[in-house]
Amino acid sequence: MLRVAIIGCGEFAANFVPLFQAHPYVENVYVCDLQDEKAQNYKSRFGTEVIATFEDAIAREDINCIAIFTERYSHAKLAIASLDAGKHVYSAVPMACTVDECRQIIEAVKRNKKTYMMGETCVYYPCSMYCKEQYQKGTFGDFVFGESQYFHDISHFPKIYQEDINCYTLPPFYYPTHSTAMILNATGAYATKVTAFGVCDKDERYKDGNNPWNNPFSNEFSLMQLSNGGVARVSECRRIGYKAPSSYISGFYGTQGSYQFSNAQHIVTTLTEKGVDMLDVSDMINPIAMTQNKNDKDFKKNVANHKWQWNSFSPVQNKEKARLPQSYKRIPDVNGHMASHQLLIDDFCTGVYEGKMPYVNAWRAARYTIPGIIAHDSAMQGGVPLDIPDFGDPPSDE
Ligand SMILES: NC(=O)c1ccc[n+]([C@@H]2O[C@H](COP(=O)([O-])OP(=O)(O)OC[C@H]3O[C@@H](n4cnc5c(N)ncnc54)[C@H](O)[C@@H]3O)[C@@H](O)[C@H]2O)c1
Repeated sequence: MLRVAIIGCGEFAANFVPLFQAHPYVENVYVCDLQDEKAQNYKSRFGTEVIATFEDAIAREDINCIAIFTERYSHAKLAIASLDAGKHVYSAVPMACTVDECRQIIEAVKRNKKTYMMGETCVYYPCSMYCKEQYQKGTFGDFVFGESQYFHDISHFPKIYQEDINCYTLPPFYYPTHSTAMILNATGAYATKVTAFGVCDKDERYKDGNNPWNNPFSNEFSLMQLSNGGVARVSECRRIGYKAPSSYISGFYGTQGSYQFSNAQHIVTTLTEKGVDMLDVSDMINPIAMTQNKNDKDFKKNVANHKWQWNSFSPVQNKEKARLPQSYKRIPDVNGHMASHQLLIDDFCTGVYEGKMPYVNAWRAARYTIPGIIAHDSAMQGGVPLDIPDFGDPPSDE
C-alpha cells in the first residue's frame, strides 16, 4: 500500500490530496510545507497529518512515496533526495531545469530501483489522445509536421506567481512539457534538434540582470526536428492575450491527412481517390459538458474562459476513464485539466502498487523536458540550431 507525503501545500496540490486519499492502493496521506500555516490549512481541509519538513518526510520509514508540488523550478533536488531515501516519486511538471538534473534523476531511478513519474496533464488531453489514436490507425499517413503550444498569460496565474520573481521570469521553455508532451505523445517520437527565438519583454523584470535567470523572454517559439523525420513547431507564451484552451495541438499533418483545431472546432481532412474528405470531429474531442452546451448563447465566451475544460471527460478518453477505480467514479468533480488528474494519480498508484513503470516515467519525462531547456539556449544565442541530448528509452519493457 502507498503512504504518500505531499510536499508543497500551495494552489495545485489541493486538487490531488483527495485523489490520493480516495485511491484504493493508498493507505495514508501526509502533508508538508515550508510555511506551516499552509500545511495546517490542508490538515483542516483534508484531515491529513502534518509533517514539519521535507527532510522529516523522507526520513520516515512508514512513508514510501513523496509527491512533489513545490515551485516549478525546485523539483529536481527534492526528487533525487527522495529517490535516494528509497521513496517512489510523483513530481509536478517540469522534471528539472537543467539537462544534468534530468540525467541525475534517471541515474537515481536506476540506482534505487524506485518509481519516478512526472504528472504531465497533457498526455491525457483529448487532442493529443485523438491525434495519437488516428496516427497509429494510419489516418494521417506518415507524420510530416505538427504544431503544439502552451499559451497562458501570467495575469491568469495565481498572485503568488506574479510576486515570485523566479516564477514570473522563468524562461517559458523551462516549463515546456505541456506543449512538447502533446506532440511527442501523439507521434511517439522524440526531438533531436532545435532552433528557437524569443520575444524580449518590455517589463523591467526582464531587463539585463534584473532576474535570477538572466532571461529577457516572456514568449518563446521553436522548430524541432523529430526522430521520425518530421518537424514540430512548439511554443511557450506567458504574456499573450489568450486564455483557453491554454494547451492544444493546432495542427497535425501527415502525407494522407491532417487534423486542425481552432478554439472549439476540431477538423480532420483526408485524401481519398475521389478528392478530399472533411470531417468535424469536435464532439469526439471536446469535453462532454462543452458539447452538451454548444447551443448556449454564451457558448463562445464560456469556451474562451475555460468553463468546461476542467472536470468533464471527452468521448476520446472513454477507454482510459473505464480503468479508473470505482472510488473515483463517485467523485467526478474532483478532477482537473481536461479530466487528466484522476488518470495521472491512478497511473502513479497503480504503477507503484503493481511494480509497473508509469507512462510518463523518468526517460519519457526527460524527453518532454530537455527539448525546452535546449530551446531556451538556442533562443539566447539568436536561434542557433542545437542538438538535443537524449537518454534513450527506459531499460526494460514499460
Ligand atoms: N497542468 C499542470 O501540470 C500544472 C498546473 C499548475 C501547477 N503545476 C505545477 O505544480 C507545482 C505547484 O504549483 P502551485 O501553484 O501549487 O505552487 P505554489 O507556489 O502555490 O505552492 C508551492 C508550495 O511549495 C512550498 N514549498 C517549496 N519548497 C518546499 C519544501 N522544500 N518543503 C515543503 N514545502 C515547500 C511553498 O511554500 C509553497 O506553499 C508547480 O511546480 C507547478 O509547475 C502544474
